[in-house]
Amino acid sequence: MQKFIIDGGTPLQGEVSVQTAKNAALPIIAACILTDEPVVIERCPHLKDIDAMLDIMRHLGCTAEFDGDDLKVCCRDVALNVINSDLTGKLRSSIFILGSILSRCRRAYISHPGGCEIGLRPIDLHISGLKSLAVKIADDCGVIYCDGTEMRGGVVNLDFASVGATENLMMAGALIDGDTTIVNAAREPEIVDLAQFINAMGGRVSGAGGSVIKVRGVAKLHGCRYRPMPDRICAGTYMTAVAAAGGKITVCGVVPEHVLGVTERLKQIGVKLTVHGDSVTASMQGRPRPLHKLETNVYPAFPTDMQPQFTAALAVASGSSVVVENLFENRFGYTVELAKMGAAITVKDRVAVVRGVPKLSGAVVRAHDLRGGAALVVASLAAEGRSVVYGVEHIDRGYEYLERELTALGAKIKRVDCVAGER
Ligand code: EPZ
Repeated sequence: MQKFIIDGGTPLQGEVSVQTAKNAALPIIAACILTDEPVVIERCPHLKDIDAMLDIMRHLGCTAEFDGDDLKVCCRDVALNVINSDLTGKLRSSIFILGSILSRCRRAYISHPGGCEIGLRPIDLHISGLKSLAVKIADDCGVIYCDGTEMRGGVVNLDFASVGATENLMMAGALIDGDTTIVNAAREPEIVDLAQFINAMGGRVSGAGGSVIKVRGVAKLHGCRYRPMPDRICAGTYMTAVAAAGGKITVCGVVPEHVLGVTERLKQIGVKLTVHGDSVTASMQGRPRPLHKLETNVYPAFPTDMQPQFTAALAVASGSSVVVENLFENRFGYTVELAKMGAAITVKDRVAVVRGVPKLSGAVVRAHDLRGGAALVVASLAAEGRSVVYGVEHIDRGYEYLERELTALGAKIKRVDCVAGER
């Protein structure tokens, strides 16, 4: 176990490059099962969640090796082993693999991924969607048994535009007879990236980025090289860190359109932003202004994955803000830790009232989930004095080389091994 030691209060200065998106790379890795030929995923991030997905792939008989930053995956033989809860427990998005295994092998067995710190995270939309493609599904003692021997294309109406369910169904439709139409599909950029990847393998996906996606099943897909999109949440996290700690940074390798939901809000709280091609420069002086209301919602609205980090910036705003979390029922857990740093936040159900304070103070805090952990780092950078952030393993699920990048921006942050028995 490791911890971050952060001496806060230093404005950030310099340039940072954004990593490849975890939430694009994960379904793309799962989609490698759709071909028996080798695939190279360029600049794949080195992250705990990626490792957990690769463990599942290897468990299914695929090979997956990093060659520098390129990930080489080959799924020539896919074994229909049960993906047990030891594997699914490490990665909620393990369920994304169901669609690709079914499309390729017509059978799949996977343990229920269960809930996590941010909410119950049911999978009913994945299951009902696959049933619309004539998959027979039985749930026995926590294991989901899927029989797709009669699978064929169909129309799936999603009650909610779930990112994971949309991705699963796109993969499920890739190699089956007929057309699969996903109505009320998620429109996140990661969906477009997955469609481009499937098409780079010879697939026929159209409409991604809109709310109706069509997948025409093909007989076979081939290998390819593919570079997934940059991580819009990491980009947003760095810019929000400037909102909280002050300074001026340039975030490189961004698709500015992908971060509009965040940059619009950053402008409203007083961050100055300029865009040059794929770089965004963010500068901030003084305290952030409060926001009347910040609400999370599906793309292109403000993303739930940025809610904790943004709330950390609002904790030092010059007034009170209201934050509403519409996606996950339990995504304010980190506010208990922020309170240890002097933040004045009251949470009731999915609404947080954030009374800005002039300064946060360094404290010993613990991350319990990925983005909540990022919020604690943002708050620690802004705080006066030293903070110790435990639970770094959660942050490592989604941020590559975080302390290295922040150090390059002038932050005083160190990763330190915990001694035996410590926390
Ligand atoms: C993806 O999760 C992301 N994960 C999440 O990022 C992100 O927070 C989320 O989309 C929303 O943008 C990956 O891409 C790997 P959903 P996903 O299905 O696909 C409910 C991060 O921090 N729902 O769109 O699981 C669900 O409970 C992570 O990087 C059902 O009710 O999200 C939630 O309230 C965390 N039934 C809402 O929909 C279902 O069958 C959105 O979930 C599926 C979802």
